[in-house]
Amino acid sequence: MNRIGKDLEKAIHLLREGEIVAIPTETVYGLAANAFNPSAVIKIFQAKNRPQFDPLIVHFPSIETVRKSVAEFPSAAMALAEAFWPGPLTLLLKKQPVIPDLVTAGLSTVAVRCPDHPLTQALLQKLDFPLAAPSANPFGYVSPTRPEHVQAQLGDSVSYILDGGPCSVGVESTIVGWDQGKLTVYRTGGTTIEAIEKVAGEKAALQSTPSEIMAPGQMKSHYATRRRLIIGNIAEMIRTLPKEETAAVLSFSRNYQTRHQYILSPAGDLAEAARNLFTALRTLDALPVTVILAEEVPHEGLGRAINDRLRRASA
Ligand code: TXA
Ligand code: MG
Repeated sequence: MNRIGKDLEKAIHLLREGEIVAIPTETVYGLAANAFNPSAVIKIFQAKNRPQFDPLIVHFPSIETVRKSVAEFPSAAMALAEAFWPGPLTLLLKKQPVIPDLVTAGLSTVAVRCPDHPLTQALLQKLDFPLAAPSANPFGYVSPTRPEHVQAQLGDSVSYILDGGPCSVGVESTIVGWDQGKLTVYRTGGTTIEAIEKVAGEKAALQSTPSEIMAPGQMKSHYATRRRLIIGNIAEMIRTLPKEETAAVLSFSRNYQTRHQYILSPAGDLAEAARNLFTALRTLDALPVTVILAEEVPHEGLGRAINDRLRRASA
């Protein structure tokens, strides 16, 4: 069965029929359905085994199309959209009734973004509805950055996987909203906080422990590998590893000369490290080891998103 392919017409047909299709974006692969059709959207939750209190991001081809689905598009949000779309930035805006409550888990805001991938842009432009799409992984596991990742885990429940190659950014979009008017980052991601603050002209608050369910991507158990993952000083952890344990090593740029290891970026480049992160976690998770020993990367730019995912994987 040929379930992975580049057939845009097939993807369009299935989505119009209310089926779910995995789509490439620059961040991670998404599991998409017609955002205006609750009976299509429910299939996403079923395929992912995702609780319905966890709202979805809605993907649009352009600022103009977003405008029709939101109640207001404040100038502060517009400035960020103009600077970063299409790209790895998600904005939380007041929704219109046209967005079903199932998509937003009953919240008054909807998460919206314009993804930067040629195939998915072409797809969105040909549809007359936007696409609700969470990352295309079983709930709680590492996000997919290659079509084979989707095939391996959700192959049986997805009608079609649109093959856009490996994702160019590799970590999810940055989620930004306004909490009582204050610029707030709810999830670090592919657009750096530094770049957002520069455009916004103000410091962003980082909300990592929300009082209500704002961005459950913040849930501690998210992005978890099956193997235990420990963050620390790798050399030290190798030295003190109990005899009965076998370790795989996930390093930023250094070669620790161990049998099972993945170096995120030998050149020490954060963009390359982000691009490789989820493939690295999946690769090490499949090895005959009992534990993954990881180290944090420099905590700046994309490094914040990488460290965030590592910490969640270790929780
Ligand atoms: O890069 C990405 O954002 C990818 C690609 C496919 O676009 N999508 C993605 O979706 O990461 P997902 O569902 O794995 O993560 C979306 C996060 C969830 O943590 C969800 O709780 C949060 O966004 N979210 C969605 N709507 C929200 C809303 N109205 N208010 C607060 N958080 C929201
Ligand atoms: Mg996800």
